[in-house]
Amino acid sequence: MKAIRIHRQDDAKKLIYEEAPRPQPADGEVLVQVYATSVTPAELGWGATWKTQAGADRPLPIPGHELSGVIVQMGAHVADLHIGQAVYGFTAFDRDGSEAEYTIALPAELAPKPASLDHVHTAAVPLAALTAWQALFDHAALSAGQTILIHGAAGGVGTFAVQFAHWAKAYVIGVDAPWNQALLHKLGCDEVIDFTTTRFEDVIHDADVVLDAVGVGDALDRSWSVLKKGGVLISLARPPAPEQAESHGVREVFFIVQTNRAELARIGDLIDAGQIQPLVSEVLPLAQASQAYEHKQGGRTPGKIVLQVVSEPAFG
Ligand SMILES: NC(=O)c1ccc[n+]([C@@H]2O[C@H](COP(=O)([O-])OP(=O)(O)OC[C@H]3O[C@@H](n4cnc5c(N)ncnc54)[C@H](OP(=O)(O)O)[C@@H]3O)[C@@H](O)[C@H]2O)c1
Repeated sequence: MKAIRIHRQDDAKKLIYEEAPRPQPADGEVLVQVYATSVTPAELGWGATWKTQAGADRPLPIPGHELSGVIVQMGAHVADLHIGQAVYGFTAFDRDGSEAEYTIALPAELAPKPASLDHVHTAAVPLAALTAWQALFDHAALSAGQTILIHGAAGGVGTFAVQFAHWAKAYVIGVDAPWNQALLHKLGCDEVIDFTTTRFEDVIHDADVVLDAVGVGDALDRSWSVLKKGGVLISLARPPAPEQAESHGVREVFFIVQTNRAELARIGDLIDAGQIQPLVSEVLPLAQASQAYEHKQGGRTPGKIVLQVVSEPAFG
């Protein structure tokens, strides 16, 4: 099969489109024909991309762990999925991913594809939406009437966080670049801050939740004073300092997103109900993965960049 394989750690130029062995599903696994997958540049450097859980090297790993596609083969003992079913999902980082014509997935990593979306838009959902969902609802227990400030609100994770928070009837403050301000109002922000002209900590106080979905820079360290006592600071890139949390009387959270079939299904239902929409800023063919990563790393690409593997229309 054709696949993208990473030939050098953390180097988007070394994402090579080439032949790779087509995987075979073992017991409890399914083989998915990938129609579309989306890009998460940070994974090129993550430990799980380069080592198995047992610590063995993973030479030439296939990246991309968000997929939309169709089940084409099943191993034994897979009960509740079927061949020909359109699915979407988020697969483990320590196995070969979905920047390929075929990939292996576990049933627990897959949910029915939202019927209202094509594969390209579906592929923009799994990792980013699960991260946002888990941050807001599993870790922060965000509820109606609370205030949340989201750094990186126009990014892959941020665009879902804004929409989920708005859907949950929270007051949503989005912080991002000047070129993303109109988008953030459209997605449901009640207030928008341009980080290039305004220091958010000068104008926002007493927030219940802050989500740092930027991952670089000093937004995390400047966020403590924005929170009310008992508030929650959630970071996706590095753990916030516990001593700072204690001195400000807030709770700090750092977590790694987990795949979750029930949450994927719930998110799919919200999409089909018209409450949530993925944002795709660019679609490129699989063979141009390298350019896709470079474009995402260059910024000014709100939401996700998607790699299309099979042209639609497709069955499912
Ligand atoms: N822990 C986990 O499980 C998990 C899961 C997913 C992602 N992550 C991490 O979460 C972070 C966000 O991921 P993503 O895919 O959403 O990234 P992304 O799509 O690149 O989004 C980041 C957004 O932040 C904007 N931005 C840049 N500097 C900013 C600043 N100082 N203040 C406010 N906004 C700023 C960017 O604008 P421009 O691009 O236009 O500059 C972009 O809109 C990354 O560090 C990623 O590795 C962690």
